[in-house]
Order: sequence, then C-alpha cells, then structure tokens
Amino acid sequence: MSEVRKIAVIPGDGIGPEVADAAVRVLDAVAEKHGLPVDFVWFDLGAEKYLREGVTMPQPVFEALRDEYAAILLGAMGDPRVPDNKHAEDILLGLRMRLDLYVNERPVQLFHPRLTPLKDKTAAHLDFVILRENTEDLYVGIGGNFKRDTPDEVAINEMIATRKGVERIVRYAFELSRTRRRRVCMSDKSNVLRASHGLWRRVFQQVATEYPDVAAEHLYADVCAMEMVKRPERFDVIVTSNMLGDILSDLGAELVGGLGLAASANMHPGRVSLFEPVHGSAPTIAGKDQANPMAMILTGARMFAYLGFVEAAAGVERAVREAVAREVCTPDLGGSHGTKAVGAFVGELVSGDA
Ligand SMILES: NC(=O)c1ccc[n+]([C@@H]2O[C@H](COP(=O)([O-])OP(=O)(O)OC[C@H]3O[C@@H](n4cnc5c(N)ncnc54)[C@H](O)[C@@H]3O)[C@@H](O)[C@H]2O)c1
Repeated sequence: MSEVRKIAVIPGDGIGPEVADAAVRVLDAVAEKHGLPVDFVWFDLGAEKYLREGVTMPQPVFEALRDEYAAILLGAMGDPRVPDNKHAEDILLGLRMRLDLYVNERPVQLFHPRLTPLKDKTAAHLDFVILRENTEDLYVGIGGNFKRDTPDEVAINEMIATRKGVERIVRYAFELSRTRRRRVCMSDKSNVLRASHGLWRRVFQQVATEYPDVAAEHLYADVCAMEMVKRPERFDVIVTSNMLGDILSDLGAELVGGLGLAASANMHPGRVSLFEPVHGSAPTIAGKDQANPMAMILTGARMFAYLGFVEAAAGVERAVREAVAREVCTPDLGGSHGTKAVGAFVGELVSGDA
C-alpha cells in the first residue's frame, strides 16, 4: 500500500468547524470509495485557543505542519472577540508567508444557470480561474502610523513586488492555461502604479514570449472588473497581484453563486500547501446550521487533486453539482436545508447511495 498522506485540519473560527466537519465527512467517504491512503488530523488552533491560552501558532506545531503533512485544510479565521485578528494574522497569513504559498487559485465556475445574477449567461460563459499572487504586495505588513490619533497622523503601507515573485506566478498562469483554453489575462494598475505594476507589465510581456501557443492579454483592473460582468466568456486564466486578486475573486464568486460556493487553494507546487474556502468565519450565522458547506467541500476536492487523487476530486465536484441541480442547498443558494443535511447528501452522492 502507498504511503499514508497526513492532512492537517484546522477548523478555526465561526462557521469554520461546521463546514470543516461536513467537508471531511465527504472526503472520508470518497477516500473510502477510492481506497485513498489519507489520514485527517485535527488541530485546535484559532480564536478560542488564543483567548484561552494566548497561543496562536506554536513553533513546534508550525514545524510539524511543514515537515510531516501533505496538506492543510483550513475552515475560516476571524472572531469579533479578537478585533485586531492577531490569531488569524499568525495562523493564516503566517502559514501563507512562511510556507511561501505564492499561488492563490480561485476558480470561477458556474454550476447552474439559476445561480448567476448575469442575464443570458450560462456555464459556457463562466468558467475561468483567478490566480492571485499570495506573498507580496500590500499584504507584507510593512508600514506604520506616525503621530497616531493626532490631526497630523500619517499612515503608510508599502507595496512590494519582486521580479522573482511576479515571474513565478505569471509562469504558473501560463502553465495552467496550457491545461485549459490557452488564454492568460494579466490585470494590474500599471498606469498609476508605475514602479510595482510596471514590473508586472514587463515581466508578463517577457514570459509571454516563451508561450507563443498561449494568447496573452493585459487589462487594467478596473476594466477587468467591468469585463468580468459584461463578457466573462473572454477569460480563461486571470493572473493578478495580491490585493487586486482579493477583490476580483470576490466579484468572481458573486457571479457564480456567492461565497458559499467559492473554493480556494494556497499553493507552492511540490510543497505542503493550504486549502481554504474564500469565505470568512461568518460570525452572524455561526452555530446555526445555516452555513453552506459546499465551498469547503470543493476546497477539499481541490486539495485531493493537488495530492494526485484526481478521479476522487472530480467525483466530489460532480456530487456538489448534482446537489445544486437537485436544489439540496442552504438558504444562501435559495434552499431550505442545513449545513449538516447538505454535507450528508453530498457524501451520499459521492458514495453512490443517493
Ligand atoms: N480566509 C479567511 O479565513 C477569511 C476571509 C474573509 C474574512 N475573514 C474573517 O471572517 C470574519 C467575518 O468577515 P466578513 O463578514 O467580512 O466575511 P465572511 O466571508 O465571513 O461573510 C461575508 C458574508 O457572506 C456570508 N457567508 C460567508 N460564508 C458563507 C457560507 N459558507 N454560507 C453562507 N453564507 C456565507 C456571511 O454570512 C456574510 O453575510 C472577519 O473576522 C474576517 O476578518 C476570514
């Protein structure tokens, strides 16, 4: 039998534990069906532990995750009792940065025509991937406040772009497009951010010459947002910077049914990577059995594909599509089912029992 792949599950805060529980049940079902050698290990990390013990991400835990695990599956981080989100910064941003997970992949895929707010658009029009650079830009935490809380206050956040950082995500985009429809759109604000996004522009043009079989285009981010709504069918792979990707991918999620269906992967190909839905901890619906577990389930499917369990991953995605088509959904998708019931139904579909 092949080596057991250990998967760390960090359920986190708010709806995180509910959607993580539903997703792992589905993944267990598909693992059993396909005889996959996986072992889920649960980690108690998040706001509760931080408030109780003052601990966010202990160094030995970080080292174990880095050295012993094949992947990390994370529910959500964020708790109103921790207003500065210190724990989330250490755990989520910490893992992204310290594991150097430079690819944030967020698919935009329409599972059913009733889910899009766009008129006359179908699954054929809405099928693209947003790649967000995940380790640089305004998210590196360089900056500060001078003369804080005075009328003379100055606030600065530095935007970082490195040639190495831009080149590797742009290259990833071209490689990914070769497995799809061979079109890459790079989106930036190089008309204003001449230094950092000017570098993006130059690197993109240079890397594009190595991929003559791929159509490369450039759009300013404001135009890209408009085009995503007007002509989403023009897109196959969009690659962009950290903050622009953060915003464009939420727009993308809303075009295909909202955050309850939006999966995401934080990857460094070949290394332990982190899989989490796009949504946050949704504190207002936490503990009410109302959260849509599909984003987390699809995120788990993406993780299985990353681990090489491609057939099992496709089976999970098919099951989610089927549940959506049969309207076994939570209220955010117009259904009347709870988190547990939707998770159980997808699990039954995966096992072939529904
Ligand atoms: N990656 C992450 O862990 C992450 C991402 C975004 C926000 N956050 C954190 O989450 C907390 C709440 O942030 P927010 O309200 O801006 O974003 P959110 O994603 O938690 O919620 C936004 C809206 O979407 C709804 N929603 C989200 N996920 C849903 C699901 N699975 N099913 C049904 N409805 C869902 C919520 O009820 C809310 O109306 C904050 O502390 C924030 O910092 C964490």
